[in-house]
Amino acid sequence: MLELQSKLPIMDTDLYKKVKQFVVNSFVKADNAGEIKHFERTAYWIKQLNPNADEAMLIAAFSHDIERAFREADYQGKFRKTKKGFRDENHLRYHQQKAAEIITDFLKSQNANNKLVERVEMLVSKHEIGGNSDQNLLMDADSISFFENNIEAFLLNMVPKVGATKVKEKFDWMFDRISSKKAKEVARSWYENAIQSI
Ligand SMILES: [Fe+2]
Ligand SMILES: [Fe+2]
Repeated sequence: MLELQSKLPIMDTDLYKKVKQFVVNSFVKADNAGEIKHFERTAYWIKQLNPNADEAMLIAAFSHDIERAFREADYQGKFRKTKKGFRDENHLRYHQQKAAEIITDFLKSQNANNKLVERVEMLVSKHEIGGNSDQNLLMDADSISFFENNIEAFLLNMVPKVGATKVKEKFDWMFDRISSKKAKEVARSWYENAIQSI
């Protein structure tokens, strides 16, 4: 069993605080404050999976889904209807790329250093499909936080809209994409409960 570390130092730089405020404000404005827990816990899990996670990783973890706060009202219906539903490649590519653009624009507006901006962009722009080990780490923390926090709302809102099959496919995909054994161990019981609840 993964040993959870409760005494990890919390790194709360001014920039990280500003990012959190920006993300929270954006989701509150979009009438979607319920999502915020998912971001807090993605940052938490990234630290659990890698205690050396740096500022860029925490910023990326907290902001990785920022695209959803700026999404047009009719966007969601379009990809849900496609054969692959939530796993539609065009949707995933758009979502991760647009999120990377929004957060890097914000970081630049705060005069963040270029290296950090590039690193956040690199991480967020592949948070759904992974790639290198740091991108995989964010993807894994995202999956854990999804199973920990989003299942109830997902079942309630999405099963009536898209049907049980596409929701099950989404859960399977969110679990199967996890790259590390450690992260799978953390997510497994939440995943199994989620599947049984459909
Ligand atoms: Fe995402
Ligand atoms: Fe996410």
